[in-house]
Amino acid sequence: MHDQQHVAVLDFGSQYTQLIVRRVRELGYFAKLYAIEDFPNIGQPGAIILSGGPSSTSEPDAPDLDFAALMAFGVPVLGVCYGMQLLNIKFGGSVEASDRREYGPASLFTDEATGLYEGINSPSQVWMSHSDTVKVIPDGAKVIARNQHGTPVSLKWNETCFGIQFHPEVTHSHEGLQILNNFLSHAKDLQPFHIDDFKREIIDGIRATVGDRQIVCGVSGGVDSTVLAVLLHAAGANVRAIFVDHGLMRKDEGIEVRKNFARMGVPIETVDCAERFLTALDGVDDPEKKRVIIGNLFIDVFWDSVGDAEMLAQGTLYPDVIESASNAKSKASKIKTHHNRVDRILELQAQGKVLEPLAELFKDEVRELGIALGIPRDILQRHPFPGPGLAVRCPGVVNEERLHIIRECDAIFIGKLKEHGWYDKVWQAYAGLVPVKTVGVKGDERSYEWAISLRAVISEDAMTADWVELPYQILRETSHRILNEVKGINRVLYDVSTKPPASIEWE
Ligand code: XMP
Repeated sequence: MHDQQHVAVLDFGSQYTQLIVRRVRELGYFAKLYAIEDFPNIGQPGAIILSGGPSSTSEPDAPDLDFAALMAFGVPVLGVCYGMQLLNIKFGGSVEASDRREYGPASLFTDEATGLYEGINSPSQVWMSHSDTVKVIPDGAKVIARNQHGTPVSLKWNETCFGIQFHPEVTHSHEGLQILNNFLSHAKDLQPFHIDDFKREIIDGIRATVGDRQIVCGVSGGVDSTVLAVLLHAAGANVRAIFVDHGLMRKDEGIEVRKNFARMGVPIETVDCAERFLTALDGVDDPEKKRVIIGNLFIDVFWDSVGDAEMLAQGTLYPDVIESASNAKSKASKIKTHHNRVDRILELQAQGKVLEPLAELFKDEVRELGIALGIPRDILQRHPFPGPGLAVRCPGVVNEERLHIIRECDAIFIGKLKEHGWYDKVWQAYAGLVPVKTVGVKGDERSYEWAISLRAVISEDAMTADWVELPYQILRETSHRILNEVKGINRVLYDVSTKPPASIEWE
């Protein structure tokens, strides 16, 4: 879409790289992330940011880049952590490897209050995460900030090339956003990023790509697919929005989804195929197999119900795209198969039959787009729900008995969060089954039943998450109702695991 004057972020593998892209967009400029292997094929950027990364420049296979090509762009460059160390070597300096890791808050003392540090306090709190440090600073380069020990942590190699040994993109770097903004002010004619412009571009893009071909899109009631369907509708596409009720939905979810689309005036068709999914899942307890079965069946159901559809639209987001791309490149271990990246979809994609108009956006940007499209806020504030539905909240085999229990517990928990005004404060919450029987007493009788686990997390974009310190009163009332009302459960647990190492869903 935009390949002029965007901000190119080169990914050296830091867990915070996506955040750099988001922050730049928050500052009102369009940014894109590139795998380092793709350099220098990064279009015509107006500024380039080299991310941090876990490697040491002294390692034989440390990621490298073509410095002459970088300089040939003639645009401002910012090296963050690993990016700074690599640049220091390229400019003729050196880096000292170290086994000791400096991690956490540090104080930044700036040597000059102009350029990168215009309007920045000294000291200013920043967030460090590195082991190597710059050693020899090349001729002509200048130290522009130090940490509390006097160690150089920021360099200026020339008027537009800077390095910082801290992460400006994390909120723990109190003035990080301003520092990024100061860097970007060295660039000329950056492509602005406003959601309204984006909306118009996406709609024009849909019209140009789809023409009068018939396009199918799946809706689940979730934010992404809702925004997608409304977008296609707004673009006047010949669209059939299909709600596949795979029987893995939450309590009364089908009714609510239909009601919401009716409110927005977007027609949807419901395909009720709970039995088909449950039969396919019968006896399957492996999480990856479950995901693949559900993902493939989903597409089958589409093609079955709309035989002459020529295209498929899906609400894939930017993090899914980069995660799949970087996984493919780095051969990093596969954690989960996202249902929109199964083989059938990849085949369709190769034939140019898949449209993913949200593929350049982060989740909160999709919400903004939803607002720009006039979608009611309560629909946009719904918690995320995974494509494979309750199947990934039901470890082991999936069957109606287990799903019923999860639905009932989940409805009680979510109802309590809403009643106490906590639903909107939490990023995502749900009840998941612990299919382990333990002994209890119900009435005067021994019970031998399963446990249910409640999970509530806050997160920015699902890459990391923290569990929420819910008021005990909510947990108490939820537990009381579950234990009294849901047959088959005699124990309620609260999940206090962060991501990483746990994931948000159970499977
Ligand atoms: P995890 O469990 O990976 O979840 O920490 C991160 C976020 O993604 C959602 N999720 C999915 N969403 N299809 C989706 O559309 C999927 O296959 C899928 N798996 C997980 C999950 O609910 C959480 O918000």
